Amino acid sequence: MSKVPNDARTAAAAALKRLEQKGVRSVYLEGVVLGATPPVAAAPASSPAIAPTRPKPAAPMPIPAGLSELAKTVSVCTRCDLHKSRTQTVFGVGNPNAKLMFIGEAPGAEEDARGEPFVGRAGQLLTKIIAAMGMTRDQVYIANILKCRPPQNRDPLPSEVECCEEYLRAQIAMIKPKYICALGRIAAHWLLKTDAPLGALRTGNYTYEGIPVIVTYHPAALLRNPAFKAPCWEDMKKLMALLKDA
Ligand code: URA
Repeated sequence: MSKVPNDARTAAAAALKRLEQKGVRSVYLEGVVLGATPPVAAAPASSPAIAPTRPKPAAPMPIPAGLSELAKTVSVCTRCDLHKSRTQTVFGVGNPNAKLMFIGEAPGAEEDARGEPFVGRAGQLLTKIIAAMGMTRDQVYIANILKCRPPQNRDPLPSEVECCEEYLRAQIAMIKPKYICALGRIAAHWLLKTDAPLGALRTGNYTYEGIPVIVTYHPAALLRNPAFKAPCWEDMKKLMALLKDA
């Protein structure tokens, strides 16, 4: 018999329901990632029913003890069809205690082959940007919205983002960066739950779960359109100033 009183359970279920209505899919508590939907066995028969929110994954993610265990879970993920075409998952790289976390879109061909984010042409440019900021890749953390390469580098499908988001949520919760830099539209839109144009997002003040988010152009966009380099550097200077006090 559980010792949790019914009114506490009902209040917890109602709080989870409110989070779920706001779009929260999972809740991170002291090393434990919980689905927004409470386990069936924990809810009394009379508690409000909470509809499942994630269509694809049948089972919640096993509770990861840390980043390496989470990476193991991700490495065998079959939640969406991208697992069929990937060479390997691309989890993330860098300092697990980084103050700054860069979040990109999804692995490309080079990343899929090497298992590391941002190592192709766009990645080499990101590495140069990080160096120009006076840091190395080992000092920051770099991850993507998707952990598997979409075929022909197409945009991630909403269902793929939904299948993968529990992993990124857990990654951010474990790293606890002081600042997040969203690289490009896909990352900015997921972090900020908006579909506003990237140009507009660059100039606003936003947070993700209380962590300030700086939005800038994706390095691939800088390669396609060098005119984006100057505004991107402005964004990085803003970030450097913020990091000085972090
Ligand atoms: N583009 C991304 O968004 N991520 C990578 O890892 C590589 C290219």
